[in-house]
Amino acid sequence: MQEDDALNPATFWRLDGEALWHAPFGASSGATNRSCASCHGNASDTMKGVAAQFPKLVAGVLLNLETQINRCRSLRQDQAPFVFESNALLSMAVFIGAQSRGLPITPAVSIPPNDAARESNLQAGRALFERRIGQLNLSCLNCHDERAGARLGGSVIPQAHPTGYPIYRLEWNTVGSLQRRLRNCMTGVRAEPFALGSTELIQLELYLMERARGMLLETPGVRP
Ligand code: HEC
Ligand code: HEC
Repeated sequence: MQEDDALNPATFWRLDGEALWHAPFGASSGATNRSCASCHGNASDTMKGVAAQFPKLVAGVLLNLETQINRCRSLRQDQAPFVFESNALLSMAVFIGAQSRGLPITPAVSIPPNDAARESNLQAGRALFERRIGQLNLSCLNCHDERAGARLGGSVIPQAHPTGYPIYRLEWNTVGSLQRRLRNCMTGVRAEPFALGSTELIQLELYLMERARGMLLETPGVRP
């Protein structure tokens, strides 16, 4: 289902993202009336491999793909940022993610280069992954490293590699971001989930991508 575009339900989001890529925003005349394509051109060239590198430090701020899209949206198109988990933002992230399908995850980048800042965000993500949380007092590591392959209720516990995001999830009956997935795991152990777009969730994303380094991106994934 995931591999066949004609069966993968997220194909609709990918096509919506492509339309949005070409849509101009801003005052109908003047410098702000730009589409993503006005600056970035043909996504199959310019966005190839990009999703495989996020989260990334951009001008000192740790951004995931969604918050980079919103940075361009407000800074370069003079528009209000897309709401987290909105169809517009998910469609754009699916469309950009799909340009990296089959490419290895390589989350190594900061612009301008700042290895120290990158490392401290990575270590913060690792600490969050290893910290016990919630009324069940479990860490991500307790399930996804120590109990991967075991069953929790009806589901096999996966190794938590974020290779397919945004994904179409059958249980959600729609497309959702990696952050939505992470928040589900947090409420699953009865912890207070971090807010969508929070630095903590992006640091966790960074650590998960580092842990999955070299695995191939398969966006848009399909999950039960
Ligand atoms: C006016 C030109 C301009 C427009 C319009 C624009 N961007 Fe950007 N974009 C940039 C610049 C400059 C960067 C470099 C990083 C930064 O400063 O944000 C960038 C970076 C990016 C990146 C990261 C690329 C990488 O290699 O890391 C993505 C993804 C992106 N933009 C997506 C979009 C999307 C989606 C839109 C439309 C909603 C858009 N951009 C509209 C100028 C633009
Ligand atoms: C109690 C065990 C448990 C804990 C603790 C837990 N998860 Fe999960 N996680 C799961 C299960 C089970 C699934 C698969 C759910 C399904 O298939 O319905 C999953 C799915 C995931 C996935 C999706 C993998 C994929 O293939 O798409 C990611 C990523 C993830 N978890 C990350 C985390 C992170 C980060 C934390 C800590 C904040 C965490 N999880 C805490 C049990 C757990």
